[in-house]
Amino acid sequence: MIKELPKLNYAFDALEPYIDTQTMEVHYTKHHKTYLDKLTMAITGTPLENMELEDILMSPEAIDENIRTAVINNGGGVFNHNFFWSVIGPAKSTGPDGMLLEKINGTFGSFDMFKEEFTKSALGLFGSGWTWLVQDKEGNVKIMNTQNQASPISEGYKPLLALDVWEHAYYLKYQNRRADYITNWWNIVDWANITL
Ligand SMILES: [Fe+2]
Repeated sequence: MIKELPKLNYAFDALEPYIDTQTMEVHYTKHHKTYLDKLTMAITGTPLENMELEDILMSPEAIDENIRTAVINNGGGVFNHNFFWSVIGPAKSTGPDGMLLEKINGTFGSFDMFKEEFTKSALGLFGSGWTWLVQDKEGNVKIMNTQNQASPISEGYKPLLALDVWEHAYYLKYQNRRADYITNWWNIVDWANITL
């Protein structure tokens, strides 16, 4: 089980001006940390303590009912944020290539059309949640939203790209302007770290 926050490969100010330093710091040291603390609290002394987080989230129905909601919310919060930090960064990569680009082109028409559809999905998400590019077991890619801290791995999908659409991810800098946050976020997607 995860006991610590993942080490970020970049500083809190490395994603400026797209994501501001304060948002990064609060997001990582407060929000992400709280999910980890609450997850630890929920599973300490239970058999889940010795399991991998991914394995737990892949079979949510197997979690003891008394702690299921806490584990899904906080374990999902840990997993989703770990993943989110890994697909963004200061490296100026312009887009996917190789097999991933082929899949995106084949599914959405072009990279630009994919970005448009992904953005639309994120804008349409009501309340708090995430927008994802995922791959199914047959290898197909698709865009999906999840509510709150639900994770695509609980539905059998492999996440490829994640956008945190919770207000805590953008409110300090963008307030209610989610569209501006998303437009700017594309600049910090680290495509080199995204693999099929
Ligand atoms: Fe978040």
